[in-house]
Amino acid sequence: MKKAETIFACQNCGHQSRKWLGKCPECGEWNSLVEERERALKKGSGRTGFKLREVAAIAYAEIESQDETRVSSGVTEFDRVLGGGIVPGTLVLIGGDPGIGKSTLMLQVADRLSVNSGAVLYISGEESERQIKLRGERLRIEAKNLFLLPETNLENIFQEVERLNPTAIIVDSIQTVFSAMIESAPGSVSQVREAAHQFLLLAKNRTIPIFLIGHITKDGSIAGPKSLEHIVDTVLYFEGERHHNHRIVRAVKNRFGAANEIGVFEMTGAGLVPVANPSQMFLQERPHNVAGSVVTACMEGTRPLLVEIQALVSETKYGTGRRMTQGVDQSRVALLMAMLEKRLGLQMLGDDVFVNIAGGLEVDEPAVDLGVVAAITSSFKNLPIDPHTTVFGEVGLTGEVRGTTQAVVRAREAQALGFKKIVMPGSNKAGLERLLGVTIVGVKSVEEALAELF
Ligand code: TYD
Ligand code: MG
Repeated sequence: MKKAETIFACQNCGHQSRKWLGKCPECGEWNSLVEERERALKKGSGRTGFKLREVAAIAYAEIESQDETRVSSGVTEFDRVLGGGIVPGTLVLIGGDPGIGKSTLMLQVADRLSVNSGAVLYISGEESERQIKLRGERLRIEAKNLFLLPETNLENIFQEVERLNPTAIIVDSIQTVFSAMIESAPGSVSQVREAAHQFLLLAKNRTIPIFLIGHITKDGSIAGPKSLEHIVDTVLYFEGERHHNHRIVRAVKNRFGAANEIGVFEMTGAGLVPVANPSQMFLQERPHNVAGSVVTACMEGTRPLLVEIQALVSETKYGTGRRMTQGVDQSRVALLMAMLEKRLGLQMLGDDVFVNIAGGLEVDEPAVDLGVVAAITSSFKNLPIDPHTTVFGEVGLTGEVRGTTQAVVRAREAQALGFKKIVMPGSNKAGLERLLGVTIVGVKSVEEALAELF
């Protein structure tokens, strides 16, 4: 038997050190290292649900392709974020702020799975069976084959898995699960990692999907999902705020699909409902003929999405103007503004400039540059942009408009939503001449684009 070891683990990022440090060298967090002891395991003991077996390398050519075997979760938008359904044997982490809808979504998925594919085990360390039942009644689920297990001890959980033999497992939440093999407190990095690791082995050994729910914590008192990202196959995060009705689930990492794919849901009185046409939803409350508003086409994973960019340029009450952004990168906006000042002579030094993506969406791609530039200029000049026009394109430091990826897909989405004119990079125009009922204007520079818009 190995001697028990003492290590110090950062509760924020999971960095481990032999001695205590005031500041974590990995993530820079202060006072986040906590002493943790690992109880030595008897060699070869193995855990329940996971038996040691003989190992042998497998010839590549003999491995069956897995893509055909995806199972539908029964919730369209959830399938989409996962890359087209659930891959058996995957470990999926679902993170998000408390109260955003993680348990709601997973109970809905559990219900559909239990009806379609067999017994589903919902392990809940946070809520009692009755609380879950109450939520289920609200969601009006059938849950024919759904089993609830209010348990937090990993070894007990594995025993029940062995007995029930479920086709899918949901763990709500991973932070409440602890292993008796480890001495650290439940919720500490060692515990959470160990539990996740055991679930990974379980998922692979039984070829069933396992979903781990994890809370995002800022203070680092409980180990956050960040420390699990590299263990799991897929990481999904709930985005946006609770104040909006819609919820966005984004695949931050996916070993079996496109990263950055999003699923859009609406939170209703009866749970999360997939939104079939997100572009339409994001443009719903758009004001027409108001300065400072423009629609741009961005890509979220493999899906095009039309969103409204809003800008407000107003004289500052303080010495120098503030620059505030929501949903777009602040330094990117600062750079575009510097370009506007230098190339087009827009003097905004004495102005506060606010840029916002309507609907609480976050966009992170250079193709929105032209939209940001157009919105700021529109507000600065107090000239509205035609509501049936959309723009997209990357903008360089000299004011040139560069081509973007997936221009055809973006243009088609704009056409589908009834836009009449698209101002886009000239280099992307090829292949887009015949878009019915839409005028395509290819531009090479910001000057050209703005001349077209105003
Ligand atoms: P929940 O799934 O419990 O959040 P999490 O597990 O991420 O902490 O969601 C809780 C919120 O969702 C709560 O504010 C109420 C709301 N909600 C609805 O609006 N409709 C519903 O049908 C349900 C079940 C919850
Ligand atoms: Mg919950």
